[in-house]
Amino acid sequence: MKGILKWIGIVLGGLVGLALLTAVILHFVGLSRLNNAPEVATKPVAVPTDAAAMARGEHLVNVVSSCGMCHGDNLGGQVFFDGEVGSYVFAANLTAGAGGVAATFSDADWERAIRHGVGGDGRVLVIMPVHFYQHYSDADLGALIAYLKAVPPVDNDLGVRRVGFPGSVLGGTIGFDDFTHINGIDHANVGANSPTEGATAEYGAYLMNIALCGECHAANLAGITLAEGEEGPPEGPNLTPGGDLGGWTEADFMATIRTGQTPDGRLLNAEMMPWPTFSQMSDTELQAIRAYLQSLPALPDNSQ
Ligand code: HEC
Ligand code: HEC
Repeated sequence: MKGILKWIGIVLGGLVGLALLTAVILHFVGLSRLNNAPEVATKPVAVPTDAAAMARGEHLVNVVSSCGMCHGDNLGGQVFFDGEVGSYVFAANLTAGAGGVAATFSDADWERAIRHGVGGDGRVLVIMPVHFYQHYSDADLGALIAYLKAVPPVDNDLGVRRVGFPGSVLGGTIGFDDFTHINGIDHANVGANSPTEGATAEYGAYLMNIALCGECHAANLAGITLAEGEEGPPEGPNLTPGGDLGGWTEADFMATIRTGQTPDGRLLNAEMMPWPTFSQMSDTELQAIRAYLQSLPALPDNSQ
């Protein structure tokens, strides 16, 4: 009996040791993957300085892409994780103030971060939604960068990102493609699909990408429901003609985004659905989005 217990002890001890060793290895593998982005093809863009481009850039930053949602209203940066999963992660200060990236970024650095998900120091960016921003056209990205280089500087030095255990394993190994988006991008062809501005379905599809609509309404736009206790984005409803929008006219859609009030009299929650921001989109932009949504197959709710 004693002998058996001793052997069970040895086996259990061995298993615990193996689990610890595995955790340590995964920790370092994860850290290395997160801190050292692979070489990816990049496509730097020309950055204009004229007033029209500046105005376009401001509209993209503040209305269409709402960078401030994560980087702070003044773009001075915002902390995301402070100790959770052993990590410290913040959305960078994008301005030229103390600790801001605009002070040191080249035009190529901006492009690499926004369309490819690689930070100024060569780390793989987490959370930053580059799977949507990869679609930014060269012209729009140039305007966006022009505006970012000119925003009022904010002094806010948030230091450097620190990923610790278990974030290293969750974000760097098993959940790498959930926390980062570098792998899903066709790096050599970013921005290849850039339709001309107009009230067309193609332009609507483009806008919906750079406005992150799919983040909350699902990639196929049929809506998201989270399982009990599951963490995730706000649960956006079905936007295809299979949902409420199937019965809405163009005027209904425009009025909903402009006022937050749906045709059946509900007020959309502005904390979850950023309609006050999107309400500043132009008529052409909203018409384009509606045209694209109408062109989609009528999918059942949450059929992602
Ligand atoms: C959903 C939240 C979110 C949105 C929206 C967002 N970002 Fe980010 N962004 C982040 C986070 C978080 C990081 C830092 C990631 C890290 O350190 O791993 C980041 C990093 C960056 C970086 C890299 C800075 C560096 O330190 O190298 C740039 C540049 C950037 N974002 C620009 C933008 C721009 C421009 C927009 C709007 C077009 C935008 N971001 C929208 C979350 C977001
Ligand atoms: C951050 C998450 C998020 C983003 C980004 C987002 N939505 Fe929403 N959206 C929601 C949520 C959540 C609701 C439901 C709000 C409620 O019922 O109060 C919603 C509701 C809507 C509705 C009303 C649908 C209905 O059946 O009542 C429309 C239309 C809509 N969104 C369009 C868009 C479009 C177009 C975009 C991109 C330009 C977009 N949303 C981006 C989260 C989001």
